[in-house]
Amino acid sequence: MHTPLCDQLGIEFPIFAFTHCRDVVVAVAKAGGFGVLGAVGFTPEELEIELNWIDEHIGDRPYGVDIVIPGKYEGMDANLSADELTKMLQSMVPQETLEFARGILSDHGVPVPKDGDDNALQLLGWTEATATPQVEVALQHPKVTLIANALGTPPADMIAHIHDSGRKVAALCGSPYQARKHADAGVDIIIAQGGEGGGHCGEVGSIVLWPQVVKEVAPVPVLAAGGIGSGEQIAAALALGTQGVWSGSQWLMVEEAENTAVQQDAYIKAGSRDTVRSRSFTGKPCRMLRNDWTEAWEQEENPKPLGMPLQYMVSGMAVAATHKYPDESVDVAFNPVGQVVGQFTKVEKTSAVIERWVQEYLDATGTLERLNEAANA
Ligand SMILES: Cc1cc2nc3c(=O)[nH]c(=O)nc-3n(C[C@H](O)[C@H](O)[C@H](O)COP(=O)(O)O)c2cc1C
Repeated sequence: MHTPLCDQLGIEFPIFAFTHCRDVVVAVAKAGGFGVLGAVGFTPEELEIELNWIDEHIGDRPYGVDIVIPGKYEGMDANLSADELTKMLQSMVPQETLEFARGILSDHGVPVPKDGDDNALQLLGWTEATATPQVEVALQHPKVTLIANALGTPPADMIAHIHDSGRKVAALCGSPYQARKHADAGVDIIIAQGGEGGGHCGEVGSIVLWPQVVKEVAPVPVLAAGGIGSGEQIAAALALGTQGVWSGSQWLMVEEAENTAVQQDAYIKAGSRDTVRSRSFTGKPCRMLRNDWTEAWEQEENPKPLGMPLQYMVSGMAVAATHKYPDESVDVAFNPVGQVVGQFTKVEKTSAVIERWVQEYLDATGTLERLNEAANA
């Protein structure tokens, strides 16, 4: 399992692992893949601590950092500093929406924080103003060789700045149209994420999307995202012309992940039909486990989710509660995960996942080779 992109990035396998957990980044790199740390939840100071830790533990292996600059978000045209933008957005959150969100938590016996506590009304790295300082931090770390962006084409000056520092830029997309915009802007690696993927996603399924994006942007390399949880699925992704896979859900189910046992248990119990694309946590369609929180925001009579990043200013307290009160918040927790959740039966070591994927890939491609040999015999 090796593609030209492996040589360009100095990795053994074209397995890219998106995670919010530094331990997983290191474990993936040590097993021959490429770990990418999601920066959205970290302040620049916190990110610096995470990256220093990774640098100390990863040896001479490369890794990536993922930021979120959406193509469209509330307040994007205001041209404000992060602090000014936070204040402006805070004033835009309707009290009714905030009360409704608090009510969902208290109805489920989850202690409800007051304004300002536990991430309530905080602006995370969901905007250019908050993501730019994260990029500056990442560029101070020589082992960071890739910056990826979710939800839009990174601004032209940011792409130039990252390129000038000798790094590659990647960006996620859910359509050939978005892929073309990325490629035209000079993005080096396009990540085509099918609608079954965990986190923010479009509507088109992976097996339809991947070859369309490959065709659209060739010869720019494409990574296949959405629904990767086995080596057979990697074989399918490479057969469709991609140069590797980019996965997220699987890394929630490894021993090195910080996810709570309650969350991991929920993922093991869930089938592929138990996820939903919901705007109820971030304001943009995001795939997660369906639960009482996601259902409440669907009801006709209830307030509708706000746009990004306003909705997370409201839901941030529920996310914080997931970590603080895992047992109480099980029915209202933010559990982003893809349809591949239906394949998960246990928590594994990261190195065991990568070894399993390589073996399954070899078995799958071996089966195809035998079919071809038999056909030609
Ligand atoms: C828990 C979770 C959080 C995610 N957060 C982000 C994010 O902050 N930035 C991003 O680019 N992608 C994010 N994603 C999407 C992943 O990068 C990846 O594209 C997706 O998980 C692939 O589909 P899969 O879940 O079927 O592997 C997230 C996915 C999950 C499961």
